[in-house]
Amino acid sequence: MKYLETYDLFPSLIQKYSITNNSVILEDIFGDNDLGDHDLLIASKRSKESYVLDNYVDLKGHIQEAINIYATKIGISPIKISQSWYSIAKNGGYITRHTHPGSVISGAYYPFIETGQTFFAVENPNPDEVWNNLTKYNETAHDFELSTDDLLIFPSRLNHFTDPNQSGTRICVSFNTKYAD
Ligand SMILES: [Fe+2]
Repeated sequence: MKYLETYDLFPSLIQKYSITNNSVILEDIFGDNDLGDHDLLIASKRSKESYVLDNYVDLKGHIQEAINIYATKIGISPIKISQSWYSIAKNGGYITRHTHPGSVISGAYYPFIETGQTFFAVENPNPDEVWNNLTKYNETAHDFELSTDDLLIFPSRLNHFTDPNQSGTRICVSFNTKYAD
């Protein structure tokens, strides 16, 4: 062999942020007696409201700061939060594999995890089918360990899911984004 050049191309940016939350969103969520269901959610409930973060301006601002860092890092035009909603899982609850069509990046923010930690999986869009050693190129999905008040931001086109929750009551605020006007 005379030479080798390696091109590590087309990575997917996923970032985890710790968010400051001084809002009353948790009190409101725990007091919500009018929750709905969703086809993707197993043994979990979801807010009927689809623009939840609009009610918590400071919290929405903190999440927007994270979005701005993400957008700057990958070099896209400014984006802002569009829809936002929350889901509540007890032990055994989970969300099945899905993407967020029509959104640029999406996020999962956990203002409450009873045990303090939980997991969230994002699928590799280009997995190799046969592998001997686990590498970043061939892993089928990556598991992220998240703590209370962590926010994970990822491209909306990537499939993601959770395994059955073992973290006690777990609340996730999710959102989509769109390009700013
Ligand atoms: Fe999602």
